Order: sequence, then structure tokens, then C-alpha cells
Amino acid sequence: STEELQSIYQFAVQLGKDAGQLLLQSVKSRYGSTDTKPSHSQEFVEKDNAVDLVTKVDEEVEAFIKHRVSIEYPSHQFIGEETYSKGASRNYLIDERPTWCVDPLDGTVNMIHIFPMFCVSIAFIVDHKPAIGVVYAPFVDQMFSACKGRGAWMNETQQLPLVRNPIPPMPASAPKGCIFSFEWGKDRRDSPDGNMQRKVESLVNMAAEIGSRGGKGGMVHGVRSLGSATMDLAYCAMGAFDIWWEGGCWEWDVAAGICILQEAGGLVTTANPPDDPLKAPIEPAKLGSRLYLAIRPAGPSSDESARQGQ
Ligand code: IPD
Repeated sequence: STEELQSIYQFAVQLGKDAGQLLLQSVKSRYGSTDTKPSHSQEFVEKDNAVDLVTKVDEEVEAFIKHRVSIEYPSHQFIGEETYSKGASRNYLIDERPTWCVDPLDGTVNMIHIFPMFCVSIAFIVDHKPAIGVVYAPFVDQMFSACKGRGAWMNETQQLPLVRNPIPPMPASAPKGCIFSFEWGKDRRDSPDGNMQRKVESLVNMAAEIGSRGGKGGMVHGVRSLGSATMDLAYCAMGAFDIWWEGGCWEWDVAAGICILQEAGGLVTTANPPDDPLKAPIEPAKLGSRLYLAIRPAGPSSDESARQGQ
């Protein structure tokens, strides 16, 4: 019911904040104020390959989240990045059962390299679709959240849960140009850059085209890569990024961000550049797609902006 979902949402937001504090404590204990010299000595081990890394804190925070969920909602399913990586449930399944899908630390490489864009990402999935998304980046104190049918929020001041500002729509005075974002992913089987160099050209062209069709002009103002798929999606929801693409994501990398973007009115498709979702209709992405292309929420149409400006 709506009330049930609302109460799960409140629980998920608080859980995101608490888990985020654990991430922050871990960073501070390594690079804290008493130790003025940042160090790269964060302990980590390689998973599938030399760019797929896990730290001790990934595992600890996942255990913390899993425990809290199991006490509050013992009948719900749980899928977490680290549980999966350890081979506990290689044949996991997201089905119609209520399922928590968690990345305790999205942006592990960032944390290891002392780049502040890392977050805890918590999604609650019902009937294969993300119904709640919570993305909390403790270092920059940014909380994004969404609850299906109710909208998405951003809270820069980290006030009490549910006291937030709605994610703003694209202002009529949006810049005449766009920022696009993509991730290099972790697949290095074909070449050290995972073939991204070849992808980038078509992504730039597509970004320019999407920018001009969206009324923002064909100029690419900048290219970004946050190093956290779920934050990239939240940044699209916020309107900071116009489009984002990545190939090779897992559900926990994107589920919360997808919920936030969709609730903000954005689009997530399975397009693989140079496929252009505006040229030919492309299926909305389902969890498990692996390839995702996201487009920011549309701004007001020019008619609407003209009316608003009157
Ligand atoms: C990774 C990040 C990265 C993306 C990878 C993800 P992790 O998650 O989201 O931006 O390129 O595909 O696996 O390992 O930091 O949790």
C-alpha cells in the first residue's frame, strides 16, 4: 500500500544516512584531520580484474545494511554487491518479491584515490521495478531520494528525512549547451581502455544532437565521469548532466539512481551509441539490461516557458 511504501522509504533514507556516516568515518580514520597528509594506503583487494576493487569498508557497510533490513523486514529479499561477489548467490534473481538491492559503496575506486564522489546506494524493488531509491554521498553531503509515484528529492542541507526541496525542473534559462557523462566501466578484456575511445566520438555526437533537440543547442559544454554510476543518474535527475551512458553495469550500480531519475521525469533506455533513442524508439531499460543510456528530465516546452515568462 502507499502507506507501507512511505514507511519503507523513510526507513531507507535513514539507513542511507547511517551507512553514509560509516563510509565517512572510514575515510576520516584514514585521511582525517589529525593526519594532514592524505594517503592512498586504503586497503583493497582485486575482484574480477585489476580495476574491479573492493575495500574492507564495502563489506562492513553491506553487512550493516543487510542486518538492519533483516531486522525491520525479515521477509524481504536482499541483494548486495559484496554478497554477490563472494559467490553467495551467483544465480540471484530479481523477481516479483520485494527485494533490497544495495551497493554499500558505489565509487570504490574514487574512495581509494581520495576522489570525493562515492556514495551508498539503496534501492527497494517491487515487481522487478525500483520503487524506492536512496543515494547518499557523505563526503559532499548530498542526498538524493525517490519514492515511486511521489517524486524525487535532493537535500543539500541534510535536514530531517522528508524535509527536502524537490529536484528542480530545467529552468527556462538553461544553458545553451550540454554536459554529457559516461563511465569507462570495468571490462578490460579487449583492450586496456575497454574500447571506450571508439565509443566516445559517437557519444559526443549524440550528446550534441540530444542537446540541440532538447532546445539547449548543439554545443557540448563539457564531458564528465563521476566514477559512480548511481551518482551519474542522480546528477542527470538534478539536471547537472544532460545524458549519461555506461555499458556493463550491475543492478546495484544503477537501481537507486534509475528510480531517482525516473521519478524526476528522466528517461533510461538500453541505447548503445551510436543508437539514438530520439531517432528510433528504444525500449526503456529494465533492470538487468547492463547497458544504460539516461537522459535528463525535459524542461518546460518553449510554449510553457513563454507562458511562464509572461
Ligand atoms: C562501479 C561504479 C563505476 C562504474 C562501474 C561500477 P563500484 O561500482 O559505479 O562508476 O563504472 O561499472 O561497478 O565498484 O564502485 O561499486
